[in-house]
Amino acid sequence: MNTQPISPAWLRDAVFYEIYPQSFYDTNGDGIGDFQGIIDKLPYIRALGANALWINPCFDSPFKDAGYDVRDYLRVAPRYGTNEDLYRLFEEAHRLGVRVLLDLVPGHTSEAHPWFLRSGEETPNEYSGRYIWTDDWFKGVPGAPYVGGEFPRNGTYMLNFFKCQPALNYGWLHPAEPWQSAMDSPEALATREAMKDVMRFWLDHGADGFRVDMAASLVKGDDADKQGTCAVWRDIRAMLDREYPEAALVAEWSDQRLAIARAGFHMDFYLDHAGNGYHSLLRDGEASFFRRDGHGDIRRFLDDFMPRYEAARGKGYVALITCNHDTPRVCPALTADEAKLAYAFLLTLPGVPFIYYGDEIGMRYQAGMPTKEGGYTRTGTRTPMQWTHGANDGFSTADAAMLYLPVDDAPDAPTVEGQTGDPDSLLETVRALLSLRAAQPDLSPDADFEPITLPGAPRALVYRRGALLLAVNPSGDAVALPEDIVARFDGRTCLYRLGAAADTAALPPRSFAIYAAK
Ligand code: NOJ
Repeated sequence: MNTQPISPAWLRDAVFYEIYPQSFYDTNGDGIGDFQGIIDKLPYIRALGANALWINPCFDSPFKDAGYDVRDYLRVAPRYGTNEDLYRLFEEAHRLGVRVLLDLVPGHTSEAHPWFLRSGEETPNEYSGRYIWTDDWFKGVPGAPYVGGEFPRNGTYMLNFFKCQPALNYGWLHPAEPWQSAMDSPEALATREAMKDVMRFWLDHGADGFRVDMAASLVKGDDADKQGTCAVWRDIRAMLDREYPEAALVAEWSDQRLAIARAGFHMDFYLDHAGNGYHSLLRDGEASFFRRDGHGDIRRFLDDFMPRYEAARGKGYVALITCNHDTPRVCPALTADEAKLAYAFLLTLPGVPFIYYGDEIGMRYQAGMPTKEGGYTRTGTRTPMQWTHGANDGFSTADAAMLYLPVDDAPDAPTVEGQTGDPDSLLETVRALLSLRAAQPDLSPDADFEPITLPGAPRALVYRRGALLLAVNPSGDAVALPEDIVARFDGRTCLYRLGAAADTAALPPRSFAIYAAK
């Protein structure tokens, strides 16, 4: 195992807050969030206990996929402000000790990007090799989605996601057709260098790194171990280590063995994929571990998580999310009390936490919301932040009809205003947990982790972080502890608890507790 400290060192104390900028806070009354809104709410984010942001793509875009269809990597979307406003956001954030990751979309651009428009011209030019085109208008890309008939160029082009997102050309692992570039061809290297320049541009202006969209998607015809794509990222990481050693990258990959150990990402998200361990905690209906009346089983999580944790260990961190802009919010599938236990668990596991805006108050997934900007079922997770009990939940002064998306206007919609100062609220629980985490080095992402499963009681878990002992029991029943485990609690005091009074002979129903070192 690599025993070098993981760099950059600031990641060890990082707690991220993800902002979907459209829906965070509107300061100019046009119904959509803006950079000034993020600046205004930095003190709130800091007081929550987060010290880093991930802002979803905020670049010029036709917004057919909420900004993941970038038209200009170097200019922000006017609806959020100007480049100068974003530079000011970096400065203000840094003044408060908050780092800022932008969202890098390296795998594709918008179909309206000038590089792409040039690549579709009949006459060969500097951009002809920037995307993946076949060499005949009647020939598609085998096994991949492609489009023909749109441009004068005699060929069809490969898509990376939606129709509006043509794939950039980083080459093929084993080119088999004349139109497939090698990874070290001048055109594939030119794409890679162009993306490095995009990164340099934002890092030079004050960004602290990037969340990387579809990080596994770069090299085409890659093998199962993503050899080609990993090699590209190792080269990019080497550039960062040389030129921007304080910058951090978090991959949207969800394969820590490849993303961290092979590709060199500092962090990799553990995403919600049906059937995986993370899914089994929060989003698997009655089988969710954190559903009180369900039949969850912590081994489903551990069996999937431990290999990821081991793969990342010593090299980088698993990024643990409450949710993200693609995933249904935890509430109302979990009640606020169930969510408290779930967050307590996520925030004390070995990993770097990412809190999706509004999850700290239990904002609810809005089922059935009409699609917006390519969101489809994701739209219900992207509604405006609920700040106050006032008009538009304090998100915007615009007429309700003008809002980016409708706010949750239910009388019991959770708000920051309603929960601030209430020790029983989800918001104050998250604050308390994050302040404890900041004060306890044993809760940092690289402190030791030892799960201690309880024989015959898969609905509960005891775990050790460094010298601390923790216990969680989301079920409705007390779970008696075997003697050898009771002995491990002997002589310890309870540092923090949720639910019924801490007990070291049995874990009370619906409880979570942290015990100090002996
Ligand atoms: C993953 C992003 O999280 C998602 O929102 C987007 O639609 C796709 N990548 C395409 O960029």
